[in-house]
Amino acid sequence: MRPNEVEPILLQIPESLETNRLIIRAPQWDDGQLVNEAVKQSIDELRPWMPWAQQLPTLEESEVITRQGRVHFMKRSDLMLYLIHKRSGAFIGSSGLHRIDWAARKFEIGYWINTPYAGQGYITEAVEGITRFAIDSLQANRIEIRCDARNVRSARVAERLGFAKEGILRSEKPDVSGSLRDTVIYAKVRGHEF
Ligand SMILES: CC(C)(COP(=O)(O)OP(=O)(O)OC[C@H]1O[C@@H](n2cnc3c(N)ncnc32)[C@H](O)[C@@H]1OP(=O)(O)O)[C@@H](O)C(=O)NCCC(=O)NCCS
Repeated sequence: MRPNEVEPILLQIPESLETNRLIIRAPQWDDGQLVNEAVKQSIDELRPWMPWAQQLPTLEESEVITRQGRVHFMKRSDLMLYLIHKRSGAFIGSSGLHRIDWAARKFEIGYWINTPYAGQGYITEAVEGITRFAIDSLQANRIEIRCDARNVRSARVAERLGFAKEGILRSEKPDVSGSLRDTVIYAKVRGHEF
């Protein structure tokens, strides 16, 4: 075992957190329908950036993703989180803490919004809440946001919340069309941004 290494499955991790307008929670069995409807409504906005959103998913495919998300959450190998509107119960979008390194306490936040709810600050609110959750409940040392250098809307979320722009990895990986893309890395680091 490396220093600071833990058995992730033994970690106590709350299943949900709340922000002003949202309940942010782990996926549950049978969430597939909510997710499937949201992906269908958002496919035109997702397709340019999300490799998994090149074709409309079937209901069964969305259910598989949510059940896998639940299993990963239970194993603490990846913490997918769904954003649910407190008052209406509507599915607002998806986020989570990914590419986790428990020894370093490093996490990467990802997100997408259900298009009818775009432009109202929900993702900013969720990412702020999840960042706080990572710091307070998971003892995060480093929280990253990575995005395609051309993804201005995504970068704005990171900038609005005071993530530091650390750099650009040039030609880091293929974009959805197969051309190499530049990746911008934003981060909050213990002792610096919090
Ligand atoms: C990236 C993405 C999640 C951003 O969504 P968004 O709706 O712009 O983000 P928010 O929900 O935080 O809303 C912010 C917008 O609402 C406005 N807003 C309104 N009320 C607000 C409030 N109370 N608080 C903050 N912003 C508010 C902001 O001004 C901002 O608009 P602007 O960017 O035109 O200035 C969305 O474009 C998306 O899902 N894209 C496809 C998937 C993707 O690229 N994911 C990221 C991969 S790295």
